[in-house]
Amino acid sequence: MQVDVLLGLQWGDEGKGKIVDVFCPKYDLIARFQGGPNAGHTLEFDNKKFVLNTIPSGIFNEGTLNLIGGGVVIDPIILKRELDNLRTAGFDPVGKGSLVLARKAHLILPTHQLLDAASESKMGAGKIGSTLKGIGPTYMDKTGRNGLRVGDTTLPDFMERYEKLKAKHLEILSHYGEIPDFSEKETAFLAAIEFIKSIPHVDAEHLVNSYLKEGKKVLAEGAQGTLLDVDFGSYPFVTSSNTTTAGACTGLGVAPNKIGAVYGIFKAYATRVGGGPFPTELEDETGEELRKLGHEFGATTGRARRTGWIDIPALKYAIMLNGVTELIMMKADVLDTFETIKVCTHYKHNGETIDYMPYEIITNKAEPVLEEVEGWNQDITGIRTKDEIPAALQNYIAYLEKALEVPIKYLSVGPDRVQTIEL
Ligand code: GDP
Ligand code: IMO
Ligand code: MG
Repeated sequence: MQVDVLLGLQWGDEGKGKIVDVFCPKYDLIARFQGGPNAGHTLEFDNKKFVLNTIPSGIFNEGTLNLIGGGVVIDPIILKRELDNLRTAGFDPVGKGSLVLARKAHLILPTHQLLDAASESKMGAGKIGSTLKGIGPTYMDKTGRNGLRVGDTTLPDFMERYEKLKAKHLEILSHYGEIPDFSEKETAFLAAIEFIKSIPHVDAEHLVNSYLKEGKKVLAEGAQGTLLDVDFGSYPFVTSSNTTTAGACTGLGVAPNKIGAVYGIFKAYATRVGGGPFPTELEDETGEELRKLGHEFGATTGRARRTGWIDIPALKYAIMLNGVTELIMMKADVLDTFETIKVCTHYKHNGETIDYMPYEIITNKAEPVLEEVEGWNQDITGIRTKDEIPAALQNYIAYLEKALEVPIKYLSVGPDRVQTIEL
């Protein structure tokens, strides 16, 4: 058995949560492998809507186990809140035993969030536009070998370790200026640490590999998107983890030869939230229209998402990095009213026409070369079968498949679980 991977090919918010929810009945284990509560994964079914930040999107399926993997960074306060909200809605993953935490997952401290905020405010206009969840500083402590992990919470000297790391953070923060009062947050953090002890802690690499050995099916759920990968994204305007397939290997302890299908998710257009280059961005009425029709406001921060046309060179780059075997196109319905749709096929960069993402696109912009394709001009939100897909949308799908050289296997025509068509 192999681990299938599902991840975003753009700048995040492609609709990963929805598709994991659709796919999870086929899987025994859903495992988040990186990122943290910077993620906001939205699921809709039976007229209910949920946004998950840390919890994998398989949580609503009876019989599926959900793992928060070792590559994830966990804010115990946010995790507790997510679980409290689920319980209020009638779901109790802890009571049911359908959620487990990797001992090796790192913890986000209240002071990590202060460091994130201080760093962003110091950068002023050039800031990353982080979600201010403390993601960057937590991964810095992980690679700096200072971090605290889930498994540490049950050690007798946990509080000493916590105080030591906090003291280090306070020392750094003192160089930024006055340190805001975080006593309330700290109390909530320590209470949440007690709470997460009630969720089983596991050696996730052994759990995942034993599932594979037993012939059980595992799906790795990505967060963020490929173009936010710390190594291959638009650095430094990226997140601090590997959002690509390789991140599933390191985040879960799965060998590269154990990776099976790689599902790459993309929107029929493009969005980005936060700073950084976005070659096909539309800062005009069309961009506003996409934002309005697609409800493009962040699931985590509520910030307006930047919008633009689909970007083929960027998608091809993401497909190459991830070894994508199947594509899933989301939010096609958002383009229902467009007479024509534009597609970026190339870039103009340094006076040359190129068909790949160049190294430097921050100071030296990549200008998109756009091609126009016909829109379908009809409401597709009610269609449920392949045969009902309008001809112009079929043409758009065929056009993209030819350009991307990977088949599009699913089409999403609305936010609800049922608005998903297998092609
Ligand atoms: P994720 O972070 O990749 O899980 O995506 P988000 O949940 O942040 O953003 C995707 C948004 O689009 C959510 O509000 C979804 O409910 C919504 N959505 C997902 N698929 C579709 C679709 O096919 N059509 C429309 N209109 N909305 C969708
Ligand atoms: P999901 O999983 C979209 C962006 C932030 C910022 C940059 C760095 O819902 O797709 P960070 O807080 O990670 O240090 O911020 O990354 N970002 C996301 N954008 N979707 C996400 O997650 C994101 N997680 C982080 O806006 O530009
Ligand atoms: Mg999201």
